[in-house]
Amino acid sequence: MVPRFGFLLLFLLIFSLFLNSESKCKKGCELALASYYIWPGLLDITNLPQIMNSPVLQTIQDIISYNKDQLLSENYVETEARVKVPFPCDCIDGEFLGYVFEYQIQKGDTYTLIANQNYANLTTVSMLESVNRYSPENIPESGKLNVTVNCSCGDIKISKEYGLFVTYPLRAEDSLDSIANMTGLHQELLQRYNPGVDFNKGSGLVYIPGKDQNGVFTPLPRSKGLNGGAVAGISAGAVAGLLLLAAFLYVVYYHRKEKEKLLSEELVVYSAQTGNDSNGPPAAASITVEKSVEFSYEELALATHNFSMANKIGEGGFGAVYYAELRGEKAAVKKMKSEDTKEFLAELKVLANVHHLNLVRLIGYCVKKHFLFLVYEYIDNGNLNEHLRDPGREPLPWSMRVRIALDSARGLEYIHEHTVPAYVHRDIKPANILIDRDFHAKVADFGLTKLIEVGRSSYLSEHLAGTFGYIPLQNDWSFKTDVYAFGVVLYELISAKEAVLSVGEAGSEAKTLVSLFEEALKQPNPEKRLLKLVDPRLEGEYTFDSIYKMVQLAKACTEEKPARRPSMRSVVVSLMTILSSIG
Ligand SMILES: Nc1ncnc2c1ncn2[C@@H]1O[C@H](COP(=O)(O)OP(=O)(O)O)[C@@H](O)[C@H]1O
Ligand SMILES: *[C@@H]1O[C@H](CO)[C@@H](O)[C@H](O)[C@H]1NC(C)=O
Ligand SMILES: *[C@@H]1O[C@H](CO)[C@@H](O)[C@H](O)[C@H]1NC(C)=O
Ligand SMILES: *[C@@H]1O[C@H](CO)[C@@H](O)[C@H](O)[C@H]1NC(C)=O
Ligand SMILES: *[C@@H]1O[C@H](CO)[C@@H](O)[C@H](O)[C@H]1NC(C)=O
Repeated sequence: MVPRFGFLLLFLLIFSLFLNSESKCKKGCELALASYYIWPGLLDITNLPQIMNSPVLQTIQDIISYNKDQLLSENYVETEARVKVPFPCDCIDGEFLGYVFEYQIQKGDTYTLIANQNYANLTTVSMLESVNRYSPENIPESGKLNVTVNCSCGDIKISKEYGLFVTYPLRAEDSLDSIANMTGLHQELLQRYNPGVDFNKGSGLVYIPGKDQNGVFTPLPRSKGLNGGAVAGISAGAVAGLLLLAAFLYVVYYHRKEKEKLLSEELVVYSAQTGNDSNGPPAAASITVEKSVEFSYEELALATHNFSMANKIGEGGFGAVYYAELRGEKAAVKKMKSEDTKEFLAELKVLANVHHLNLVRLIGYCVKKHFLFLVYEYIDNGNLNEHLRDPGREPLPWSMRVRIALDSARGLEYIHEHTVPAYVHRDIKPANILIDRDFHAKVADFGLTKLIEVGRSSYLSEHLAGTFGYIPLQNDWSFKTDVYAFGVVLYELISAKEAVLSVGEAGSEAKTLVSLFEEALKQPNPEKRLLKLVDPRLEGEYTFDSIYKMVQLAKACTEEKPARRPSMRSVVVSLMTILSSIG
């Protein structure tokens, strides 16, 4: 009886696996871009954030950041040009990828007007008719309409280099050739992402790979667990063993999905909207935390062998870090003291919703008595501190150091400028910059100080002070505090020296790395002095020009006056220039 039931179950599972892999969506992605054609008659783009309102678009700056090549100003924009507008890409009813905007009806609106002008053909009249209960003749004069815009999250079977897509309404002047020219992508690739679509037809949507705020194509997130590729691998000819494994994986996956769904229904976070909203939509935009999971203490204890010494991988300022294998994935569990106040839980939910390639992702948490456990994705390859100073590690080549600086700068830029609320990290240092297998860097521990603050932890007083050597003498705890600390990290990448060093005789005063470089720069001929500070493990494999540019950047970041330090955004731009100059 039992085995027969088991077979039935297995059969059903395999069956549902195949159903599920039939191209319908499982989940969306955080971000897509809409190519919005500025029709003649639209005087400026000040209303776009209202029309295209979503959790990823709060102010006009969010649009400007994706269109840096166009020099948009808030109130002026050339007509008959296109601007890229960020929006989230959800899996709607498990059927297709799209996002439903809430549109505020204006007097005289028709579905045609809304589709052809207000939403610049990103939607169609027939789609509007299908998602709204009003017939075309009976649209009220006020209230709200649903406006669905389709999107894409990429396809691992085509390429893993592209994970951000532009929903692009074709116009008469477009062709496969012109779009390939404009994007620098192969026609063949564009066609593969849009099978069967005639790019010359002058209407309809196509999906084209898009660039992020830094002007680079965003790859697909590195996949874990069951993804498109895995499903594709299980083809008709696969052996029974493989099917069994797949069914098993599916159970695990399905189970987790269900749990996530339960949680996401519960965790709705209201984030305050910036700017005024006197006549706009309600002041709160809801963000659903889909990916955060609450773990039980028992599960974490099991996954870390009862928080054994053997599983301990680090001891940070806030507590110990343990290696865990949780639900088939590697994870790092950070244990610390904290109270679970209401503010604290709210903060946790916001944090779990911040995702960026260069930030260590918070997967979930567990609260037990006076302890908090934060579960992070596991980053495989140590932290920057080890890579710079551990003699057991191969020295990092110069270009890789610049790359790591750029990755970290991007992570920081993201929390400074693109999250709501924005975060000051407060504890940037090489130990908090983790390195993955591909030697990409991810910033750890952002938002933690805030979390600790609202959790009224006893660690609070000790650790809100930052780490000596990384904070300016006169500190204001603004974003510019992070910029200063980042400048120190740049000096460390160049020299592999510690942020605080004692030079000369025993008993002499501790000296900072910043002052060491500043003294060198004050020399009439700084080149020689600077070369002496460069990490000898680089063995001369660098151009002085690029070292000098990094030094200049680090110096700007560590200016005593906060206002004179650059923003992380311009640090990113400078590092991109340095990186491209060394190839
Ligand atoms: N997600 C992670 N994956 C792998 N190792 C980690 C992770 N998080 C932390 N570690 C390791 O634990 C050490 C201490 O971490 P952390 O508590 O973040 O440092 P601190 O509290 O000093 O900022 C890190 O330097 C790193 O080596
Ligand atoms: C939308 O499509 C219609 C019909 O093709 C066209 O007349 C109109 O200009 C388009 N609107 C935009 C903003 O591109
Ligand atoms: C918009 O969609 C929601 C959810 O499907 C529905 O409840 C609502 O009635 C729709 N609004 C209109 C105006 O039809
Ligand atoms: C959006 O996707 C749905 C479902 O695949 C489809 O029916 C609809 O035609 C698409 N809309 C546009 C404008 O391409
Ligand atoms: C695309 O670029 C090539 C070379 O720059 C040029 O010859 C061609 O005319 C361009 N095509 C279009 C449609 O702009």
